[in-house]
Amino acid sequence: MDIIQGLPQGKALDILQSAPILNFNSHLIGTNSYQETADSDVVIITSGLGRKPGMTRDELLLANMKIVAEVTHNVVNHSPECIIIMVTNPVDAMTHLAIQTSKFPRNRVIGLSGILDAARFGSFIATELKTSAANVSACVLGEHGKNMLIIPRLTTVSGTPLTEILPRETIDKLAERTIKGGAEIVNLLKTGSAFFAPSAAIAQMAEAIILDKKEALPCAARLDGEYGIKDTVLGVPVKLGKNGIEQIIELDLTKEERQALATSAKAVQELVKIMSSGRG
Ligand SMILES: NC(=O)c1ccc[n+]([C@@H]2O[C@H](COP(=O)([O-])OP(=O)(O)OC[C@H]3O[C@@H](n4cnc5c(N)ncnc54)[C@H](O)[C@@H]3O)[C@@H](O)[C@H]2O)c1
Repeated sequence: MDIIQGLPQGKALDILQSAPILNFNSHLIGTNSYQETADSDVVIITSGLGRKPGMTRDELLLANMKIVAEVTHNVVNHSPECIIIMVTNPVDAMTHLAIQTSKFPRNRVIGLSGILDAARFGSFIATELKTSAANVSACVLGEHGKNMLIIPRLTTVSGTPLTEILPRETIDKLAERTIKGGAEIVNLLKTGSAFFAPSAAIAQMAEAIILDKKEALPCAARLDGEYGIKDTVLGVPVKLGKNGIEQIIELDLTKEERQALATSAKAVQELVKIMSSGRG
């Protein structure tokens, strides 16, 4: 569903025509009307502006705030029982806004962040070590942005902590590249931002919910006291199943890691404050 006439219809046809090759038989439509999305079980919100080269995710805040509030309102009116997966950036603040606008309980509004950030870190590690990305389990928490918290001691390659495999300087270099991973792609593409890895991450979240997998995945979730943080959306491991977020998993963090997570929370809280004043 999009506001641009023809765009969602064209994309849906393109995807539909891959069915005989990829061997799927889903029914697909593209539309400009919420009516045709009525009673959805899962709604993925990607509406809004993406970054242009040189822009930060936060610079999208005020423009996307209006779009996400309007879209969430329409989604709730047509699919009151749905689970929302928020993608629009800055995603932590937009997830917070969607929880407020929808009045849904926090388990039914989840943001895409950690799966993508961990996949970026994991793919850089795999390339550095010349190993399969499937051997890497990366741990990334916090804001989907510059205050992202990468935890090498909880990142493992075939069960061994990354800190025992790579020197500190190399880990720092890969972590830095991960934090700027989205911007690197935006700068290369010049128009538009990452598509393939984000869509793979969104599909993993949607499948965990639809198939009730109870899968532990890092996502943006509203914390209500977990990790000592209240009323703030932040990337943490959660268990995803048919009820959306079925558990928030609390990792045993060091004092320094907890402090870094608190700094990440403050950055998101600042954006929420700006949104509140932006709404007057
Ligand atoms: N959370 C993440 O990890 C992550 C990853 C990738 C992209 N993103 C974000 O997702 C968003 C979408 O990215 P994209 O690359 O698909 O951008 P895009 O420009 O290709 O698509 C956005 C679409 O939103 C539509 N839109 C705008 N206002 C609308 C409204 N009121 N109702 C319905 N549709 C509306 C536009 O017409 C456009 O087609 C951006 O904010 C981007 O930064 C987030």
